[in-house]
Amino acid sequence: MAEFTGGEVYQAEFDPKAYLEYFKFGECAIGDEVVTIALKNFCKAFSSGLLKGDTLIDIGSGPTIYQLLSACESFTTIIASDYIEQNCQELQKWLKNEPGAFDWAPVVKYVCELEGNRDKWAEKEAKLRKAVKQVLKCDIHQSNPMDPLTLPPADCVLSVECLEGACKDKNSFRAALRNMSSLLKISGHLVLAGVLGCNFYMVGSRRFSSLNLTEEFMREAICANGFALVEFKVQPRVSMEMSELSDFAATYFIIARKEKEA
Ligand SMILES: C[S@@+](CC[C@H](N)C(=O)[O-])C[C@H]1O[C@@H](n2cnc3c(N)ncnc32)[C@H](O)[C@@H]1O
Repeated sequence: MAEFTGGEVYQAEFDPKAYLEYFKFGECAIGDEVVTIALKNFCKAFSSGLLKGDTLIDIGSGPTIYQLLSACESFTTIIASDYIEQNCQELQKWLKNEPGAFDWAPVVKYVCELEGNRDKWAEKEAKLRKAVKQVLKCDIHQSNPMDPLTLPPADCVLSVECLEGACKDKNSFRAALRNMSSLLKISGHLVLAGVLGCNFYMVGSRRFSSLNLTEEFMREAICANGFALVEFKVQPRVSMEMSELSDFAATYFIIARKEKEA
């Protein structure tokens, strides 16, 4: 079995700049495919009126903000989080508009186009920068992932491509879902996006392991943790180009409502 790359490997070897190569539109086929699917799903979900409230917590944000571009139209307080300091710093660089920050403008413009507002992209950047109130250290393997902070339960918890990278096996995945659920209000929504049938992904020259997830397992794990599934969308991979960067078979997009404590 391939090596599991846990938290210590992320801390020592996850290079935010190398990871951000996936988000340069037009330069990385595999990134373009996964990111555009996710952005379309976020746009539809966050404009549907179903996902609303004051606070959204994003778990395992990485160095990226694309996952929050539609969410900031519905939530006025967004809390981003990650396990490793270098990702939090990279995020802060963009939030504070500092020199050397990643250029998200092409992605922001694409989202504005999806939302029917292409010329408003600068306003959207400002809106997101205003909405993200905190970037916190988190660990989804802790029963309180934000320990030592205790956050008030949120209206929405979002997590994109975090569980598959952070969890070693199915039991740790189930436990991490339970930990995420503890951050959410009853009747609040969990939004998950990521990849199925994936064993690895590359960040620069470093190979990171991925828990190979199936739709069947995820449905069972989510429902067993006190959630009711609202949407479970699977889209098979289109382009087999760049399979040396990741071997995922499909993407998933899930909305689940918290019915009870797990
Ligand atoms: C593939 S990246 C996804 C980043 C971003 N959400 C995205 O959609 O591009 C996986 C992220 O999970 C984070 N991570 C790894 N272990 C974690 C843990 N135990 N708790 C929280 N986040 C973790 C990593 O630091 C990394 O930023």
